Amino acid sequence: MSESKIIEELKASIRNIPDFPKPGIQFKDITTLLQNPVYLQTLINLLVKKYQNLGITKVCCIESRGFFIGSIVAYKLNAGIVPIRKPGKLPAETISKSFTLEYGEDSLEIHTDALTKDDVVLMHDDLLATGGTAEAAQNLALDFRIAELYMNFIIELDFLKGRDKLNKNYDIHTLIHF
Ligand code: PRP
Ligand code: MG
Repeated sequence: MSESKIIEELKASIRNIPDFPKPGIQFKDITTLLQNPVYLQTLINLLVKKYQNLGITKVCCIESRGFFIGSIVAYKLNAGIVPIRKPGKLPAETISKSFTLEYGEDSLEIHTDALTKDDVVLMHDDLLATGGTAEAAQNLALDFRIAELYMNFIIELDFLKGRDKLNKNYDIHTLIHF
């Protein structure tokens, strides 16, 4: 099967939940992909194929839905896992970046000793929507003057143009577009 056919199959396995968590929002639920062993393996294989020869040393996984796939990919790439977490969750010294939500502000944190300038980093999250989360996470990683950064998402909601918020000097790759 061609790669585009495989990606179509994965896309079809994602469940749409209308009006969740608020009226008017079409929630893309990846649990229906993750719970299927064949789809899970297929997803991991595609990501490993894409990132395996780039010398990636750390995979930054964005809390919480980025943890599932980011961690497996890190293991497969022989890379380390770095959590990027919501405020107050990381126990040691952190740096923090805030970002705007539809109503209000939120922030993300990383440990100050999580990355070094020699690291080649893969940043992973399940979803790129408005881009606030990914922008904050990207800025956290770039503060370390790392050697290279790749941004990866399973799903991108193209109509929200979250990609426009990200630094274009770094590769941005999404598997499934809606
Ligand atoms: C969701 C999703 C992304 C983020 C994308 O996470 O998992 O991380 O929103 O939205 P944005 O591009 O508009 O910033 P959420 O904050 O709901 O938390 P969760 O992963 O812990 O469920
Ligand atoms: Mg999330």
